[in-house]
Amino acid sequence: MRSNVLITGHTRGLGEALANLYKSTHNIIGVSTSEIDFLTFSKTPKFYLNNIYDYVIINARSKKHQWADLMNINCVNQVRFALDIKNNINKALVFITSRAGNFTRTYRGFKGPDGSRMFPGTNQIDYSMSKAALTYAAVCISRHVSYPVIAIDPGNFANQSNPERDTKPVDIAIPIKKLLDKSDLKKYSGRLVRYTGEFLVW
Ligand SMILES: NC(=O)c1ccc[n+]([C@@H]2O[C@H](COP(=O)([O-])OP(=O)(O)OC[C@H]3O[C@@H](n4cnc5c(N)ncnc54)[C@H](OP(=O)(O)O)[C@@H]3O)[C@@H](O)[C@H]2O)c1
Repeated sequence: MRSNVLITGHTRGLGEALANLYKSTHNIIGVSTSEIDFLTFSKTPKFYLNNIYDYVIINARSKKHQWADLMNINCVNQVRFALDIKNNINKALVFITSRAGNFTRTYRGFKGPDGSRMFPGTNQIDYSMSKAALTYAAVCISRHVSYPVIAIDPGNFANQSNPERDTKPVDIAIPIKKLLDKSDLKKYSGRLVRYTGEFLVW
């Protein structure tokens, strides 16, 4: 029987690209709004508790919400869901987070197109907070399970709001799958990792 890969946010973007890569070898269990709405999530349905997963990839995020709703969708309720199924995972639990929630990058700033030092704006502070908290959850859970738990920064790629970007979701999904296939995956556990496998300062 084929093993399962559970992916939240599988209907488009990176989640869909990952589902397409895994579907030849695994049974895909996709979770997007029509399966579980992480805005109104209260209890993990039995179906998800009764399955065993090779990989669980927490990837869903909203662009339609702000503040508490955004925090609930991107972080709180997906972490609650992951905790509910954490004993059903064999190979790895992955949180797709973002550089937007990276403390060091936010504090030190980053090099802008003209070489000057730039700092992230405060207009998306709710999104950044949700991703910083998601990275925290990855580190915390990694200390309580036997398989690797990894926070992955996927970089920037094309999506519905930025379709013109040259990097497409599949260009990120392929290296993520390669990373998850590594025999020494354990060394990435509890770490924030770029999709290419480079360790990032949190
Ligand atoms: N794109 C980038 O440049 C970029 C940069 C940094 C980090 N990331 C991270 O990478 C991941 C994937 O990004 P993406 O651009 O591929 O995302 P996306 O295209 O916006 O897709 C988001 C997914 O989340 C699902 N979703 C939204 N609200 C939901 C809810 N309330 N309950 C359940 N599912 C919900 C959507 O499905 P439905 O709407 O069908 O429910 C969709 O499948 C995200 O975690 C994002 O934060 C992306």
